[in-house]
Amino acid sequence: MYAERLFSERMKTMRPSEIRELLKLTQNPEIISFAGGLPNPKAFPVDELVEITREVLEKHGKVALQYGPTEGIRSFREVLASRCAKEGMDVTSENVVITTGSQQGLDMIGRVFLDPGDTIIVELPTYLGAINAFRAYEVNFEGIPLDEDGMKIDLLEEKIEELKKKGITPKFIYVVPTFQNPAGVVMSESRRRKLIDIANEHDLIVIEDDPYGKLIYEGKPAKPLKALDDEGRVIYISTFSKILAPGFRLAWIVASEELIRKLAIAKQALDLCSNTFVQFVAKEFIEGGYLDLHIMKIIEMYRPKRDKMIEAIKNYFPSDTIFYKPRGGMFAWVTIPGNIDTEEMFLDAIKEKVAYIHGKAFYVDGGGANSMRLNFSYSSEELIDEGMRRLGKVIEKKLKEAK
Ligand SMILES: Cc1ncc(COP(=O)(O)O)c(C=O)c1O
Repeated sequence: MYAERLFSERMKTMRPSEIRELLKLTQNPEIISFAGGLPNPKAFPVDELVEITREVLEKHGKVALQYGPTEGIRSFREVLASRCAKEGMDVTSENVVITTGSQQGLDMIGRVFLDPGDTIIVELPTYLGAINAFRAYEVNFEGIPLDEDGMKIDLLEEKIEELKKKGITPKFIYVVPTFQNPAGVVMSESRRRKLIDIANEHDLIVIEDDPYGKLIYEGKPAKPLKALDDEGRVIYISTFSKILAPGFRLAWIVASEELIRKLAIAKQALDLCSNTFVQFVAKEFIEGGYLDLHIMKIIEMYRPKRDKMIEAIKNYFPSDTIFYKPRGGMFAWVTIPGNIDTEEMFLDAIKEKVAYIHGKAFYVDGGGANSMRLNFSYSSEELIDEGMRRLGKVIEKKLKEAK
């Protein structure tokens, strides 16, 4: 019924999220899925939330069920600001805007900063949802490879100089510095400092997306870039999706007051305000001390899953497979040997009833063909072992065929 000519130019450049499309295939309950970035539903604190929900309705029902301010409920923003301040960020509630998931936050940032033809810098690989959010604003992507210590900052400097020679100043640098999606790596402190220096020197903005920073299985918490930022150049985004429940669709952005005002204008057009009711519930959950306990609980639940997945890579994948042991987060990132295209291999994997996300989905330059992202938070340890055994078989078969 709809003729192509009716669609906007923007819509023509937008593609369905490959992850969402692939997840449809993995709905079959027989498939062991390492594809989604899903928290383990067994951990959801249902009983505590039943109680808190009742209390919120009894105590605050008339406000909690009403529209709220676009920036979010003031007392909730205060709670979040004080948590961020404990991590070294110089913030008050005026520096916080609540968003409907951090995915909306990324879109708001796109609305505020991006014009068609602008250039932005991302990691290679990077979060697919960010590529999709920013692509809608018809931008050019420049990618900087990462290694075990995060984005290669020397290459970033070179890229900025190279762009400068062409008369291009990038609008911002988007990074997931802590337990990166998909690569699982953490940007080292020296690279974090260098990144801030570069942003200061070249008058750039840095978007720090941090959904996984609290899911630490080993080592000390990394200092957020926002805590190193003296000039108000870092826009920090975090979410309740991975530390509580993605169904809440609740996240927040921390930025300078000037930027928060702009972001709020962008948000007004999107949804007027985020879900007021869940803001109250999340506030009570934090203030009752449940959130910190919950994070401790999921860390204990996910660490052995991570260990099982790493053990299974060693047991079932070719010996020259390249991988890092992630010290936190939800993903293992694996590069298999040979000329195997993991996108092509996906349907073979589905036939064996196991799923992952192929590497190319996370690259803005067409790279990543022989890599894959494997989620370890969602499945049981038993299923991780079985799924990885199946995947190992699929890879072995593909390698033999390629010979
Ligand atoms: C790096 C990153 N940013 C943002 C999101 C979006 O999270 P949400 O919209 O659920 O807050 C995700 C989800 O997987 C993510 O991995």
